[in-house]
Amino acid sequence: MAFLFNSDPERARIFAAEFKRELPQLPFVTDPQTVDPADVRYLLTWTAPPDIARYRNLEILFSIGAGVDQFDTGALPDAVKLVRMVEDGIVRMMQEYVTLAVLCLHRDLPGYLNQQKLGIWKSRTVCQVSARRVGVLGLGMLGQAALERLRPFGFPLSGWSRSPHEIAGAACFHGEAQLDDFLAGTDILICLLPLTAETRGFLNAGLLARLPAGASLVHAGRGQQLDQKALIEALDSGHLAGAVLDVVDPEPLPADHALWRHPKVILTPHIASVTQPETAAKAVIANILRHEAGQDPIGLVERSLGY
Ligand code: NDP
Ligand code: OXD
Repeated sequence: MAFLFNSDPERARIFAAEFKRELPQLPFVTDPQTVDPADVRYLLTWTAPPDIARYRNLEILFSIGAGVDQFDTGALPDAVKLVRMVEDGIVRMMQEYVTLAVLCLHRDLPGYLNQQKLGIWKSRTVCQVSARRVGVLGLGMLGQAALERLRPFGFPLSGWSRSPHEIAGAACFHGEAQLDDFLAGTDILICLLPLTAETRGFLNAGLLARLPAGASLVHAGRGQQLDQKALIEALDSGHLAGAVLDVVDPEPLPADHALWRHPKVILTPHIASVTQPETAAKAVIANILRHEAGQDPIGLVERSLGY
């Protein structure tokens, strides 16, 4: 029985040390050439290796990230559990990014950056936090954590998900029937949805039009969820005031893409949150122990839903 680790050497070093301490009986392998594929019970990777069928006794495929859209779940044997990354480091970093982005948009940093380029010294209108409604699409691990971190600022908070949720200090909406009400009451929209068949192209012209005039977007889900042309049109028409985008399609954008230099856009290269090996190794080990005790791992993907 072995654990096969397929990521960069620095992460491997940290994981290996933690595995040696906590699970010394489980061989920790980083070079697939040194292990019989039939011995691999656990594989941690960002994408599935093309020869995954050779790992015929695989029990858990761990994603090194929170997203699992990069896996072709149809190609995985039914018995293999697909597990997304649920760990403190990735949560904390997303909380930081969302807070940074919301405050940037709330205080109109894109406007000031633009003025700076032009040598303009002028104050811009700002509304109070109590009048800036912040809404999160996706109330999973990251959406809920983002709301928790935003709460002390005093923004009226809300969230939208597939199934009903109750979250202290946030109005919760769910399902298609409640989407209009959620959008109509959102001045800063944060997308933290997973990429699935249902959410591909979700942030389209129709959805953006249902936001109040002057609203803004923070997108840290997946690039393929956003119609970038529709976003640019909404920004150029003045319907939307700004956007902070961490994910785009494709990544990176072509050098001449309008989003690179759009005055109302802040673009970051898919860095909102990154799995932290120290905390991730502990989370993966805890999941192996759960699995070996007959419990479901935390972050088990519901394959029929795609997340
Ligand atoms: P979770 O699986 O914990 O949560 C997903 C949430 O989305 C759930 O609340 C779920 O609803 C909701 N949801 C899914 N599909 C729909 C739908 N069709 N309609 C309405 N709501 C839906 O995911 P995480 O919070 O861990 O991560 C979310 C995504 O963030 C990842 O999949 C990844 O794409 C992205 N991400 C981006 C990073 C970056 O650096 N930019 C880093 C890490 C993640 P319900 O609660 O009802 O099930
Ligand atoms: C992730 C990501 O899914 O980095 O973890 O986007």
